[in-house]
Formats: sequence, C-alpha cells, structure tokens
Amino acid sequence: MAQFIQLVEQDKKSIDDGLLAGLTAPQASTSPKYLYDALGSKLFEAICELPEYYPTRTEAGIFAKHAQEMAQAIGVGTTLIDLGAGNCAKAAKLFPHLQPAQYVPIDISVEFLRDAVSRLQQQFPAIDMIGVGMDFSMDLQLPESVRSEKRLFFYPGSSIGNFAPDEALTFLQQIKAACTQGGAADGGLLIGVDLVKENSILDAAYDDALGVTASFNLNLLLHLNRLLDADFDLREWRHRGFFNDKLSRIEMHLEAASDQTVRWPNGVRRFEHGERIHTENSYKYTHQSFISLLTEAGFEKVTTWTDPQQWFMVCHAHAA
Ligand code: AVJ
Repeated sequence: MAQFIQLVEQDKKSIDDGLLAGLTAPQASTSPKYLYDALGSKLFEAICELPEYYPTRTEAGIFAKHAQEMAQAIGVGTTLIDLGAGNCAKAAKLFPHLQPAQYVPIDISVEFLRDAVSRLQQQFPAIDMIGVGMDFSMDLQLPESVRSEKRLFFYPGSSIGNFAPDEALTFLQQIKAACTQGGAADGGLLIGVDLVKENSILDAAYDDALGVTASFNLNLLLHLNRLLDADFDLREWRHRGFFNDKLSRIEMHLEAASDQTVRWPNGVRRFEHGERIHTENSYKYTHQSFISLLTEAGFEKVTTWTDPQQWFMVCHAHAA
C-alpha cells in the first residue's frame, strides 16, 4: 500500500476567504485551483486528448525523444516530487529512465490522486511512494517522510503558466529552497513550459471546437455551487478563452449571458449581461525569458529540450 498524507481539507471545509473576496470583487475572479474538483480533473484529462490542445502531446513527444538525455543530466535514485501529479501518468513514463528512489505525487484533487497512487503502487511495487493531498501553491512544506536527498521537483504541463511572472519567480525560489533543505545537495527541477506562438494556435487550444474547455471552465460553477451552496445557473454563462498578447497570457473567463443574481447562504452577487469572472491565466514564455526566470530564482546549469516547431520547452536546472 502506498502511503497517503492528506494536508488539505476537502470541499465544504476548505473554502478560503480568497474565494468569496474574488467572487464579490468589482472584477470578479477565482483561483484556477477551483477548476479541479473530481469532474474538473477528468475534463482536464479530456482536454489533453483534444486535437487543438497541443501542449500535452508536444511535451510528451519531447519526453519520449529525450528521456535518456534527461536521465543523464539528472541521474538515478532521485526523490521525485511531482507537483500537480493528477493521474501520475507523466512521471510514470519517466520511471524506467529516472529510476527514482522515492516518488512523491502531490495534488489538490485529493480523491483523484489517491486512486491514481494506489493503482501506480501496484504497477511499481519497488518504488517507495508517498501521495500528498495538498495545495502546494500556498506552501511547499513537505511531510517529514519525504527524503531530502536528491530532490527532483517535476513540474510538467506548463502549470507554471498559472502564476503571473512575479509569483512564478517566488514559487521557483521556494522550490529551490526545498531542494536544498537541510543542506541537501544535488537537487533540481524538471519543468515544462509553453512557449509564445501564433495567436490562432493559442486561441484554438483554449477554445476548442468540441467545447471541452468550455465544459471545464463552466464546471467551476458546479464546483462553486457545491462548495458555497450557491445557485449559479450554468445555462446563463458562456466560456471565453483567448490569448492576450500584451500580457503574454491566455485568459479564461466565464461571461454572464444575462443580468442575474447569484446567491449563497451568507452572500449575494449581481452580474450584468456580459460581465465576467476571470477564472484562469496561462502565461506563455519565450525560451530566453524562461531561462532568465530560472536563473533569477537561483537555478543554474540549465539544459533545455524543445520540439521541432518550438511550441513547448522542457528544462532541467540544478539548484545551486
Ligand atoms: C494545467 C495550467 C497547464 O494552462 O494549459 C487547459 C490548464 N486551462 N485548458 C493550461 C488549462 C484550459 C492548463 N494547465
């Protein structure tokens, strides 16, 4: 049996004040973490299968092609810490190359992760696994049982894009600190980053023809209804997803299709037709801008791998 440590409380208990503050602000917004309840995690898996959503497939191609080189840069016997592990599939593909001593998948979607880890442990009984249900964006304090030697933080999928560049820097600094915790050496980071490209390709990736991204975004309202006991009517909301090239980011919004009032036990929010809730940002970097960020965070000896179209980049960096 894989060990599992749950550091987030689930559903009703875990509403943070930030959620209500964001919802009732003049420019309503919610943290992208609310996209990932159990159904949201499944819808995200479906997004990864879409023809328009190139990141997952492109990144998988880079890992498939360069896994051996990556393993050479990284070395075997690491403590592989998988941030936002989801179904753990990406890390599992690297196991044969990286041969980690310990695997620590972390995700906020607790039940989804619990299932994934117990399945994976059966498949790889020799790897010590500790699943951790927590919100690592708040605090990267890891449980005692996580080895401090040779920590390799694995942050694929361009999830770093959810942070604004200044927050990304802080987060990378925290990872760096966690690598060297207790004086441990040989730590590092293996991270996937989505790169700036033609607008039409970016737009389509976040507003697909089948409407899966729309469902993923709208499901946030179902999640909020459950969390807050609110009464969002999903039929009265539309998905918006587009690239904002001034800020170099994808923005996702939910747009009210009518004037309406949304209620929950201790609150109320009126939305006018066309008013939006900003639900996600996904920043896109250039090769150089991301390397600069890594260096600024204190990482060194950066190696990068990309696809032939240069749509996506995987970086390995050493924590100095
Ligand atoms: C999981 C944050 C990497 O930004 O591409 C996909 C989330 N949102 N489609 C991304 C997402 C809409 C995804 N990340």
